[in-house]
Amino acid sequence: MNPPQADVTPSSLRELRRRQNDFTRELGEKGWFHSFELPDGTQIDGCMPLAWQRERWSRFPLAADLTGKRVLDIGAWDGWFSFEAERRGASVTSVDCVDSPSYRQIHERLGSRAEFRNLDLYEIPAAGLGRFDIVLFLGVLYHLKYPFLGLEIVCGLATDVAVVESFVIDGPTWRDHRGEIPMLEFYETDELNGQFDNWFGPSVGALEALCRAAGFARVERLAVDRSSALVACYRHWEPEPEIPTLDPPEVVALANVNTYGINFNSRRDQYLAVWLRTPAADLSKERLHLEIGRFGAPAVHLQREDTGAWRGTFRIPPGADAGWNGVRLRLSESRFGPPRRIAIDLPLVVQFIAVKDVADGHTWTPRRIQSGAASCWVAGLPENCDCHNVRGFLGSTRLAVTFIGEPGADGFRQVNTALPSEAPRGDQPFRIECGGVASASVSVGVE
Ligand SMILES: C[S@@+](CC[C@H](N)C(=O)[O-])C[C@H]1O[C@@H](n2cnc3c(N)ncnc32)[C@H](O)[C@@H]1O
Repeated sequence: MNPPQADVTPSSLRELRRRQNDFTRELGEKGWFHSFELPDGTQIDGCMPLAWQRERWSRFPLAADLTGKRVLDIGAWDGWFSFEAERRGASVTSVDCVDSPSYRQIHERLGSRAEFRNLDLYEIPAAGLGRFDIVLFLGVLYHLKYPFLGLEIVCGLATDVAVVESFVIDGPTWRDHRGEIPMLEFYETDELNGQFDNWFGPSVGALEALCRAAGFARVERLAVDRSSALVACYRHWEPEPEIPTLDPPEVVALANVNTYGINFNSRRDQYLAVWLRTPAADLSKERLHLEIGRFGAPAVHLQREDTGAWRGTFRIPPGADAGWNGVRLRLSESRFGPPRRIAIDLPLVVQFIAVKDVADGHTWTPRRIQSGAASCWVAGLPENCDCHNVRGFLGSTRLAVTFIGEPGADGFRQVNTALPSEAPRGDQPFRIECGGVASASVSVGVE
């Protein structure tokens, strides 16, 4: 947060950071954290020099003209960054857990239209503020008890970019230990700067890793100073290459990692597996650029299957829109392939279920199950039915649903099921259920 100063040796770093940013006395004397130069010529000399505020702003990857953009400034304090965004044309919402009289004073003197909300960060998702093109998250992370949850909330609020600045524990030395396990220092009480509202000090690597893991498509390091680092966290991939050097990967299949279905619950931490084929050599997860709805989703895992296909695993991005979401994949060197789709928070609406033509899954013998697999044709299944939410039963024995086809001209879909080895034999009632609705039972003979 402070202007850069002369380098310090690593050995003195720990001792220095315990006291280097303790501006409590200065704040008590000045009464302001931010400095201001008001249009009527009034100068307010806060703890942070105006030149340093301007320097910080100049590092943000933001256009000079923010007209038409919605900006959220979390932890606004006296509000210099909020009012600067507004001066550049943005519609601004400022949030702080402290209701600062100094913010209100400047707001009035500037005739600002920025909206101030006295909220804790964790309260924002339920406060109905909507989404923001740009989220400023400056100097707040290390104040959080739950820093990762905080960054996930920031990610879910941003539709384009979040500018994240934090105190870091290794400003002068981070290059020496790049590649090491990222570190978070924990402050039980007032170990950092003599202030009790500091909880975790990240290393530069931890700040970047936390931002990536929070769900942003890509994270760019913008600056590292003596005791702070600044990163831009984007919700989208960089534009497709104008001259791609590879064809898009072929998406063979995709499924919810837990259910193998196509439905996802945005309130849960859920992952999408994508099976793909590509002739690209040395594939790495960093080269996979998946888009889910309007947000980029980085791969968290990549493995080669015995079939030669690759299986990439992706987290559903925070703040993904409810409904059908297009899923497109490209490599860093390719354009996107054609979209598939998944359902997020889509209710399962079922009026009726009708089953016809139950047959053995291999011999197609009607009403006789000889091979341990049963196929049937089912009407009434909703568009977002999948192998998890459609259930087959033989009496009270649950069957695994292994395949659901597209509806035919008559509206019936083929549904394949597999019988467990302990399935009952002889004449048995077969039925299909979905969304709490069951079909009439069809009698089948199980051999
Ligand atoms: C170090 S100041 C940063 C001020 C300004 N953003 C800047 O970078 O110059 C931290 C601000 O975050 C606010 N803050 C800390 N924890 C917060 C939380 N959980 N929710 C909302 N605001 C918080 C504090 O009240 C304070 O105004």
